[in-house]
Amino acid sequence: MKDEKAFSSIDLVGQCLIDEPRSLAFEKAIKKIVKPEHTVLDAGTGSGIMALFAARSGAKKVYALEFDKYVAKTALADFKDNNFKNKITLLRGDAKIFTFSKDLYFDVVVMEMLTTGMVDEFQVQAINNLHRQKVVNENTIFIPKLQETYLALAETRFNIYGFLIKMVKHLWNNLSQNQKVKMLSDRVLISSVDFSKHNNEDFSVILKIKVKRNGTFNSIYLSSVCFLTDNYKIKDTETLNSPVVVPLEEDINVKKGKYIKIKISYKYGGGYENLKVKIILK
Ligand SMILES: C[S@@+](CC[C@H](N)C(=O)[O-])C[C@H]1O[C@@H](n2cnc3c(N)ncnc32)[C@H](O)[C@@H]1O
Repeated sequence: MKDEKAFSSIDLVGQCLIDEPRSLAFEKAIKKIVKPEHTVLDAGTGSGIMALFAARSGAKKVYALEFDKYVAKTALADFKDNNFKNKITLLRGDAKIFTFSKDLYFDVVVMEMLTTGMVDEFQVQAINNLHRQKVVNENTIFIPKLQETYLALAETRFNIYGFLIKMVKHLWNNLSQNQKVKMLSDRVLISSVDFSKHNNEDFSVILKIKVKRNGTFNSIYLSSVCFLTDNYKIKDTETLNSPVVVPLEEDINVKKGKYIKIKISYKYGGGYENLKVKIILK
């Protein structure tokens, strides 16, 4: 069977656009960083909002890259409607492999293809491609600059409407009030992805975590924060970096004071189907 896309591409893009805390935080960072002499790349431009922010902040030139045909058409219309069609050039293609013109260099890269722990989107690969193509260097400023991801042992109630449904849950603020998650440990930093660098595309870590409360360890709780600039941090918003619970295959009764040793591994952008949690010691 052909790997068809299951969802409309435009609805997430539209939700991102109207997520004001997220969008305005990016605008603040863009305004602070972008200077009149700068050439800016907005990769995964969606509605084009980040490219528009960069143009309005006075960038000399902005390139907006998008692989989805319909989304790209919408962004192009936005650039025209806002009289930025000369300043912003739309590029169509996959940021992981896109071939840029040899004479291009980006002073600033804005990239909001972000997900918690970078499990579900290809931002790491897209940035590696920019380094491979030498269109960025150590002077290029990346917005965001860094993503930190934290993990906690958790007990999650997977019963819903009288059924047991053990699936990955994104705990969006406005939907998660009834989702019961009991933290069984502190949150432990598991990764700091520096978006200004070339990164390994596989992630793996072994952790020894102290249990803080008695309970049934049946899931891991992942959460992320992004540093848009060196000292400007954004936590989760409605569409960015939502906490996620990932169910385990087994339920493990744990006691306060004990240690659990686990291995987490996944490929950035590979989705939750490729995330493995191995219990090494219980
Ligand atoms: C989370 S949305 C964000 C849109 C916009 N940057 C914003 O901040 O509102 C991510 C966008 O990146 C695009 N995208 C995802 N992967 C991509 C890739 N490999 N190459 C180009 N665009 C991509 C999606 O189609 C979508 O429009």
